[in-house]
Amino acid sequence: MGKKVSRRKFLTYTLGGTAGFLASGVLFPMVRFAVDPVLKQGEGEQYVDVNLTVDQITEEPRSVEFTVHRKDGWYEPEGGEKLTAWVMKDETGSIVAFSPICKHLGCTVNWNSNPQFKNEFFCPCHFGRYYKDGTNVPGTPPTKPLDRYKTKVENGKLLIGPVEKA
Ligand code: FES
Repeated sequence: MGKKVSRRKFLTYTLGGTAGFLASGVLFPMVRFAVDPVLKQGEGEQYVDVNLTVDQITEEPRSVEFTVHRKDGWYEPEGGEKLTAWVMKDETGSIVAFSPICKHLGCTVNWNSNPQFKNEFFCPCHFGRYYKDGTNVPGTPPTKPLDRYKTKVENGKLLIGPVEKA
């Protein structure tokens, strides 16, 4: 014959089980939210062939346009997201790809576009300036250097990856 469960134990088990069930409903989304960026790492590590060979890259920054296909939450822009980079070799011969997004308020910076400030990246919105190495010129609106894209070379061709925040 089965063991009898007292009314007190029955209530303890029932309430305990219900509380556990409700707690898991709250905790699971919190844990998932905390861990999700770690699980998603690598998704953003998409590298794009920008149709440029290494020997076409000089110490003079050149504007390179490319398209990235990725989802932002549920949204995936039709035809991909059009991006631009300023690509050059630095004084050590390493390839650098700067984001053209001004670190002040997000306008687009251009290379050597203001005759007053030769050999600098210039932002026309509020006269933001950056040296050739991407460092912001002190005393101008931007307070940080330009961000850089990750880059790699495969079969002599440049691939551009995600932006690394400066
Ligand atoms: S947005 Fe570039 S200087 Fe303000």
